[in-house]
Amino acid sequence: MPEKLIIDTDPGIDDAMAIFFAMASPELEILGLTTTFGNVSVDQATINALNLLEMVGSSIPVARGISVPMFQTPLPFPDFVHGSDGFGNVNLPAPKGKAIDLSAAEFIVKTVLENPNEVTLVAVGPLGNLASALELEPRIAELTKKVIIMGGTILETGNVSPVAEANIYNDPHAADIVFSANWRVHMVGLDVTHKVTMNDELQARVRDSNPDFGQFLYDAGRFYADFYKASRGADGCFVHDASAVAYAINPDLFKVIDGPVRVATEGFAKGQTILKRAGYTYPENHWDVVTDSSVCMEVDEAALLSLYESTLTPQ
Ligand code: RIB
Ligand code: CA
Repeated sequence: MPEKLIIDTDPGIDDAMAIFFAMASPELEILGLTTTFGNVSVDQATINALNLLEMVGSSIPVARGISVPMFQTPLPFPDFVHGSDGFGNVNLPAPKGKAIDLSAAEFIVKTVLENPNEVTLVAVGPLGNLASALELEPRIAELTKKVIIMGGTILETGNVSPVAEANIYNDPHAADIVFSANWRVHMVGLDVTHKVTMNDELQARVRDSNPDFGQFLYDAGRFYADFYKASRGADGCFVHDASAVAYAINPDLFKVIDGPVRVATEGFAKGQTILKRAGYTYPENHWDVVTDSSVCMEVDEAALLSLYESTLTPQ
């Protein structure tokens, strides 16, 4: 039986790769997309989510989510990474469809309550929709089958500060609520996504073999790859969001450390995901009051990229 998924997303070029990866996987059944601000505004993220689904003729629901962080002042959108349209300025025409009337949090709660212990949440943007869903209905912590997030970093340097990753930094209060809830968060952070680089050759092979969205992903990916080449000298782009989908398909591609994670919400370490390792105790006990997370620290890069390419290449 395929795993039932809701993808919470701020599309976003790597979000698009992740969404098509998930939709093409026979291991997964996508019940809906919920949108958040992050790479772009929530309105642009909703337009982009609708456009992605229309590219593949899917009618799964899109639920519009939160537009600003819970408390902190909104940050400018990173148009230098994803373009002002979120898709490398390919400027797609407006989608025909519209988001459903339910908010993202309402859709998450409704879907989890209707499918107890069957739904996996994969969040690849800031975590305000998951935090709002927990506040709306705390029982979802026990009734959600699995929570996987692309976000955070433990040992790897951050991408928006020396210690913070973008999705967490964009809404640290929401992230701390999510990591502190009574569920196990599976964290796919920069410790592994900075070890997975998708080169132009792989993107060109997907372009040439996938008639539905191969060209779109390649065109949007140019802007994204150029950013990584200019800023990191990388031979391609880091695979952030699609790595979270790979974890949903096959967690054995990763090695994890288990332990409680808290998120710094103030000061210059704002957005830092702090893992307390087993066997240590500290004078201030901020960690033993929350359930353990599973933090990805190693990944089989070649196997992940091969899974991505084979899934996106029609058999
Ligand atoms: O830090 C990378 C994350 O931030 C990815 O989810 C990317 O799409 C952006 O949202
Ligand atoms: Ca994202």
